[in-house]
Amino acid sequence: METVVLKWTEDNAGREAMRHAAELLKKGRLVAFPTETVYGLGADALNADAVARIYAAKGRPANNPVIVHVPDEASAAKLVGDWPSAAQLLAKRFWPGSLTLILPRASQVPDIVTAGGSTVALRVPAHPVALALLREAGTPIAAPSANRSTRLSPTTASHVMRSLRGRIDAILDGGPAVGGIESTVLDLSGPSACILRPGLISKAELEEVIGPVQDASRVVREGRKPMLSPGLMARHYSPHTPTECLEEGARERVESLKRDGRKVGLLCFGEPRAMPSATTQHAVLPADAGEAASGLYAALHDLDDAGLDLIVVEMPPKTAEWAAIRDRLRRAHSPGAELP
Ligand code: TXA
Ligand code: MG
Repeated sequence: METVVLKWTEDNAGREAMRHAAELLKKGRLVAFPTETVYGLGADALNADAVARIYAAKGRPANNPVIVHVPDEASAAKLVGDWPSAAQLLAKRFWPGSLTLILPRASQVPDIVTAGGSTVALRVPAHPVALALLREAGTPIAAPSANRSTRLSPTTASHVMRSLRGRIDAILDGGPAVGGIESTVLDLSGPSACILRPGLISKAELEEVIGPVQDASRVVREGRKPMLSPGLMARHYSPHTPTECLEEGARERVESLKRDGRKVGLLCFGEPRAMPSATTQHAVLPADAGEAASGLYAALHDLDDAGLDLIVVEMPPKTAEWAAIRDRLRRAHSPGAELP
C-alpha cells in the first residue's frame, strides 16, 4: 500500500487534507496524526476491523490495549460504564491534555480495543489538528503511538514515515509534536488510583486534584501486584542501535570506547560539563525536563540513524521532574548493551 502524506495548513488545502484524513478513518483505514505528545496511529475505535489493522501495521502484540481519543469529556463518558467524580475532576483540570484515564468500559467498545480486558483507556488530546480530526471524523479514534512495536515513538511525520511507510494509508502532517513523550496513564478502575506510565503530568499534580496516587512501577517492583499494563514491559521505546544508560562516567566511557575504535554517540542533558571530543556524534538536550522531553525522541532517532556501534546516555537527575524521561530512557537501555 502507498502511504500518502496529507499536509495540514491553515487554508483551504489544509482543510481539504483534514477532510480526506477523516474520510479515510470513516472507511476503516489507518491515518497517523499529530497529538501534543507524539504522533498517533489512528483508526475508528468503534470498528473492530479497522483497529485490527493497527495491530497488524505496528506488529503490536494482541494483549496490549490501545488508547481511545475523544474530542471532549462527554464523549469519554459515553465509552465507560460510569464516569466517577475523580475522572470528572481530572478531566476538568487536565483535558485536553496529556493524561490518559483507565476505567471500566462500556459494551460498545470493541474487544480488540481493550485487548479483551474489562477497562478502556481514554484521552482528549490538546493538539488542534487532533481535535479537528476527531470532530471531522465524528467517531472516537483508537491510536497507539505511530511506530513499529517496541521502537521509538515518533514526534514528526518523517519519523512515522520511516517506521510505517507502506503499512498505513496516510499521515496527516501537522508539524512536530512538541510535548515529546507519551501521556501519563492513570488507572482509575481499581480501589486506588495508580500511575501505569509516568508522563509530563506528574504524580504531584494528580495528587493535588484527587489525593494519594500509587506508582505502578513501585507496586510491581515490590511484588505487591502482577504486571498491570503491557506498556510497563521493560523493553520498549528502544532505538535499533545498542543503547547504554549510565548514571555516571558516560563521557569517560565514550572516550574509552572511541580509543578502541568504536563508533559511539552520546546523549546528555544540560550544560556540557566535559564535552567529548568534537568528532563524537552527540546531542545535548536542555537542562529543563519539559524542554528536554520535547526533543528526546528526535535526538534518539538522529543518533539511531548515525550508523553508530553504541549510544551512551548520561542519565538526568533522579528527581521527580525527570521521572518520565528516566522511565523512557531505562526502557531504551539494551540488556547488557553488548557491542556488536
Ligand atoms: O501520548 C500518548 O499516550 C500517545 C498518543 C498517540 O496519544 N499514545 C500512546 O499509545 O502512547 P501507546 O499505545 O503507545 O501506549 C498506550 C499505553 C500502553 O502502555 C498500553 O499498554 C496502555 O497504555 N493501555 C492502554 N489501554 C489500557 C488498559 N485498558 N489498561 C491498561 N493499560 C492500557
Ligand atoms: Mg507506544
